[in-house]
Amino acid sequence: MRVCLCYPDADPAPWLSALRLHLPGAVIESWQPGAAMADYAVAWAPPQQFIDEQTRLKALFNIGAGVDRLLQLRLPAQLRVVCLDDAGMAVQMAEYVCHAVLRHFREFAAYEAQARLGQWQQRAPRARADFTVGIMGLGVLGTRVAQALRVFEYPLLGWSRSARQLDGVACFAGASALPQFLAACQVLVCLLPLTPDTQDLLGRARLEQLPRGAYLVNVARGALVVEDDLLALLGSGHLAGATLDVFRSEPLSAAHPLWRHPAVQVTPHISAQTLEAQSILQIAGKILALERGAAVAGVVDLARGY
Ligand code: NAP
Ligand code: GLV
Repeated sequence: MRVCLCYPDADPAPWLSALRLHLPGAVIESWQPGAAMADYAVAWAPPQQFIDEQTRLKALFNIGAGVDRLLQLRLPAQLRVVCLDDAGMAVQMAEYVCHAVLRHFREFAAYEAQARLGQWQQRAPRARADFTVGIMGLGVLGTRVAQALRVFEYPLLGWSRSARQLDGVACFAGASALPQFLAACQVLVCLLPLTPDTQDLLGRARLEQLPRGAYLVNVARGALVVEDDLLALLGSGHLAGATLDVFRSEPLSAAHPLWRHPAVQVTPHISAQTLEAQSILQIAGKILALERGAAVAGVVDLARGY
């Protein structure tokens, strides 16, 4: 069995040695143009040439949960693409989103500002029952985030493409249910994949359907949100603030107004990072499962885009 690694953004050495450890007997190499045909590929943001040359893949493992970058390439319709399926990302995402939601609900930004001024001033507690948190995307990550948020007893809503049932979450499905879902969210957490259906989903029209004073947490992909519309609605006071981990263009340019907006928290796409050891273990396990003829989780529907 031959496995090729194509990870232009990273040092391939630790990936190669760990894959060799978990797949003894396999030939595992970094891809170079003209390399021998591989049975499996492990890749993040490969060039089109890689796809065009590697025509005998039994599967391509995407080193990440989101496949939007990969799906910008011309892929053979029959290519089996497998994405990372949690691999240590779900708990990180739960941590990040809980932090953002708690920080907003408990007004920690205001307390930090007061502390810098040496002001001892208690603020009135907010009503938990009025603080509805809605999660767009109830997949691997959205489900884990919902489980984590349940501990804090906020009313929870979820929205997905197909109907879902999650304990403690009032679930909505499909485009027709979106206005009703948005109208009830005091906090909107975005955990949708970026697809042709979700690109620019959160523009002015949809953001205006949130109640006045709502808060946005985007940890999915930047292109789901129309940033100029978000800034306009923050300026008008329709939105109270946002925590943003992802942006339409990354890295976010130094001049971008989101960096300096007082109600916006910016992080550099770190809400759920790929963990090398867990990811390699998962990918190697799935390669061995496919070799045995077993099914694996995380197979991407190329037509649907996730
Ligand atoms: P997933 O398991 O594939 O779940 C996707 C969810 O989105 C599903 O519930 C799906 O609905 C829903 N969905 C997709 N298209 C929809 C549409 N048009 N309308 C309504 N719902 C729709 O994905 P995941 O593993 O949870 O990851 C979600 C995304 O998080 C990734 O695609 C990636 O972009 C992002 N991510 C970001 C980071 C970061 O560090 N910022 C890290 C990892 C992942 P169904 O349930 O009906 O299929
Ligand atoms: C990170 O953003 C991922 O998709 O894994």
